[in-house]
Amino acid sequence: HRARIEFDPRFTVADVPERLFGSFVEHLGRCVYTGIYEPGHASANADGLRQDVLDLISELGPTMVRYPGGNFVSGYRWEDGTGPKEDRPRRLDLAWGTTETNQFGLSEFMKFCRTVGVEPNMAVNLGTRGLQEALDLLEYANHPGGTYWSDLRRTHGDEEPYGIKLWCLGNEMDGPWQIGQKTAHEYGRTADQVARSMRYIDPELDLVACGSSSRGMPEFGAWEAEVLTQSYESVDYISAHAYYQPQNGDFKSFMASAQDMELFIDGVTATADAVGAKLKSDKKINISFDEWNVWYQNAPTGEREEPWAVAPRQLEDVYSAMDAVVFGSLLITLLRRCDRVTAACLAQLVNVIAPIMTEPDGPAWRQTTFFPFAEASKFGRGKVLRVNADSPVFATEKYGDVAALHSVAVANEDGTFTVFAVNRELETPLTLEIDLGSLGGLGDVTCSTLTDADPDAKNTLQDQTRVAPVANGGITVKDGVAFVELPAMSWNTIRIA
Ligand code: AHR
Repeated sequence: HRARIEFDPRFTVADVPERLFGSFVEHLGRCVYTGIYEPGHASANADGLRQDVLDLISELGPTMVRYPGGNFVSGYRWEDGTGPKEDRPRRLDLAWGTTETNQFGLSEFMKFCRTVGVEPNMAVNLGTRGLQEALDLLEYANHPGGTYWSDLRRTHGDEEPYGIKLWCLGNEMDGPWQIGQKTAHEYGRTADQVARSMRYIDPELDLVACGSSSRGMPEFGAWEAEVLTQSYESVDYISAHAYYQPQNGDFKSFMASAQDMELFIDGVTATADAVGAKLKSDKKINISFDEWNVWYQNAPTGEREEPWAVAPRQLEDVYSAMDAVVFGSLLITLLRRCDRVTAACLAQLVNVIAPIMTEPDGPAWRQTTFFPFAEASKFGRGKVLRVNADSPVFATEKYGDVAALHSVAVANEDGTFTVFAVNRELETPLTLEIDLGSLGGLGDVTCSTLTDADPDAKNTLQDQTRVAPVANGGITVKDGVAFVELPAMSWNTIRIA
């Protein structure tokens, strides 16, 4: 099979937003405890952060981290995680059926963000709590001093305000599983009031209203319309969350999961713009795709086997080569639509449906999904270009005929170009022809490819490096056209210099 693409540096989609390569740390399972934070670990630094994990995070390259949840935030008292550690209360976490020790909280999270060099993205609890507690938290975090909450932060040892700019107004408030679930009208009114009041403290904030928890939610669309009707002028983003997994052994549809993500983005954009049009507003609401990943939601995870455990193993999905290719395709969609998806978070960062795994008191290693993210974050910077693509299609049960080639081109800031390309066909390799005609004589083409003869191959504690990208030897350049051999079921990072 053959596919062909062409692009021109003059025809751009948008600048790649800095916030597109976000990730997510929730108080869930072992994401925080024995994930990023393990004071007793041999590699732990003075703040109790695991240096082996910090090193992998730098290699992964997230630009922003969302915290502290997720479902967890809807029952969280942020004050519990502040002040002297010996005074912090242990609490039941109703979202995940565990005991929260609060040994890690806001101050520790801010130290983590500064150490890794990422922007914090903080969520407020609009489940069991509301406006007053959100304002208290913001005053504690961002006000310089001279008031009760800001001076309390200083007493706790953090003299300088944290300057957190990006805030999520609750989490998945449409979900029946959410503590304090609300109707669209209730939530829209709350989001509007919380947003307006937060801006009295700090007018420079960027605020995210909760959209639907997935495109499959019964109220999808209607939820966004009502929430934004109530809050359009006071928020900046509407969130989207999506997780994918193969269903009933239908791997072809699974390979095409990005189709659903595209329809999701199109639907939310259209709905937000329709509300804006009705309100005669010239403002645009963008999407914060603040949870996305492959997640085997039906897999037994051991959760709740031991009730109210501290940091048990929960949601520790082990990702296959096929999962990594689907994951890469989701990244391609986020890049292709970065004119309207201007923030996104891979859920999550460590141990919990994560690209990085750890053992308590043991090693840390890269899952298969680590590699597409690291390459996209490293080489997917600059401007996304419009791509004309011609590709064979394959039939799927869920999405009909789908193009085998899924790709995006980025004009990098140093004058080189990167094409991310996934061959979504499970059995058929693809020869990709790239027209280099408009690239000013560039013709040095290299490609890193992730694939595996066994689609189920995984990196595990016992075999930590089974799956990794390798240099692709199948490249020729002739008469201004590059020919790159894309194996079946593969993620490819093609660099043109
Ligand atoms: O990321 C895991 C969970 O998925 C989050 O806590 C929740 O927001 C979503 O349902």
